[in-house]
Amino acid sequence: MKIYKVSNYHEMSKKAASILAAQIVADPKSTLGLATGSTPIGTYEFLCKWYQEGILDFSQIKTMNLDEYKGIKRENSQSYYHFMKEHLFDHVNIKEENTHIPDGECEDANTICREYEKLIQKGNGVDLQLLGIGRNGHIGFNEPAETFARECHCVTLAQSTIEANKRFFEKAEDVPRQAYTMGIGTIMKAEKILLLASGEDKAEALYQTICGPVTPKVPASILQFHKNVIVIADEAALSKVK
Ligand code: F6R
Repeated sequence: MKIYKVSNYHEMSKKAASILAAQIVADPKSTLGLATGSTPIGTYEFLCKWYQEGILDFSQIKTMNLDEYKGIKRENSQSYYHFMKEHLFDHVNIKEENTHIPDGECEDANTICREYEKLIQKGNGVDLQLLGIGRNGHIGFNEPAETFARECHCVTLAQSTIEANKRFFEKAEDVPRQAYTMGIGTIMKAEKILLLASGEDKAEALYQTICGPVTPKVPASILQFHKNVIVIADEAALSKVK
């Protein structure tokens, strides 16, 4: 694991965007694995800006998102489909058919997850996977569990995740209880992984991820076994890692 400590969210976002930009320039046909949530918003802002300045070209880029709430319509402003359009896709020249997010409206969990896994592994898989981290150590929506999930699957969100994500909804009851997510095995197949963390509320999860034992109780800890992981985190998020 390569760990970069930066001073704040802005610096984390700039460095993360630089690494994504380098990937896009080096291989304009890259497949990027993307995340949602508060963490990558600043990173996407830099990418949009650099596209508008003519530095980046997304015309051949493919994207595979980590996850989507189950039972949510695409038009719903809380869907990850909506998030990606708002923060990235609508502002760059990516082709809509090259962007992929699990279909949260599909009720048939087995079919959708099988198909999504197949789609990811088609071609060369994910070249660079962007990740945020949950306060409980989740990546994608892989919540703390007894085992690591291999492939895309349907999860029931942990109560702490519902609590953390209710800030995006009018009330906690509106947060969907289930989601479709890449599995830990899916994430680990990515060629390179870029994990971002900002803020003190991520400090314990990040400490366990970097310094703790590899255990499905801290899903991100599996990243210790990946050959090419870059962590970019601010001082607050790294405050427990000495
Ligand atoms: C989102 C995702 C989640 C988030 C995590 C952190 O696609 O996969 O694992 O990265 O919940 O969320 P924020 O960034 O909102 O703190």
